[in-house]
Amino acid sequence: MSLRVAVFASGGGTNLQALLDNFNTHDGVARIVLVVSDRQDAHALERARAAGVEAVVIPVTGRPIDYVSRETLVTLESADIDLIALAGYLRLVPPAVVRRYRNRIVNIHPALLPAFGGKGMFGLRVHRAVIESGAMVSGATVHLVDEQYDTGKIVAQWPVPVLPGDTPEALAARVLRVEHLLYPAALEAVARRLERGDVPAAHTVRSGAFTWAAEHAPAANDIRRALGLD
Ligand code: GRF
Repeated sequence: MSLRVAVFASGGGTNLQALLDNFNTHDGVARIVLVVSDRQDAHALERARAAGVEAVVIPVTGRPIDYVSRETLVTLESADIDLIALAGYLRLVPPAVVRRYRNRIVNIHPALLPAFGGKGMFGLRVHRAVIESGAMVSGATVHLVDEQYDTGKIVAQWPVPVLPGDTPEALAARVLRVEHLLYPAALEAVARRLERGDVPAAHTVRSGAFTWAAEHAPAANDIRRALGLD
């Protein structure tokens, strides 16, 4: 039986789409069965509906955290959710939800954590900060979610070069292509560990795993191999 996954998204949902394309097109270790957004106008909700997945709005702005927390827990429990994937969700997950789903919530961040993360570090701000720092390597990180922004244990990372003359937009696009390959593979690795009764720990990716192909993206196969999936 597949693990039941909820994806939380505030925006366009291209990572959600990558997850849907990977998990909901065949029977596997996990299936996306619920999409939650804090925003009524999030395009991610339309992607969910188009894929036949239940889409729910849980507003956060101007509501006491206890209300949000309770509504979120009821929604997750009534959908029998095993695992949560944040995909461009711009809110802090309420502490009671983190406690209930400890080690069962993952997030993707468009840089190599623990650098360039934390409150307010989202979207183009991340890539601008990377370029301004002079860093030559950025990347994507999948990590477990704890009570703070971007501080949970790292599950998988993939480096992406910062090229001379890069704009934040160009770097964002390069990193996003890797996110779409890394996130499904990392979520699959986490789901397999949970299925075996293991806690998804750090260092899912073997060190030194780095391929940057001629067409400027790693091959999905390289990522899957690095995550021990093939
Ligand atoms: C991604 O860059 C992700 O790393 C970050 O938010 C962005 C979401 O993009 N957490 P999308 O909505 O999946 O297109």
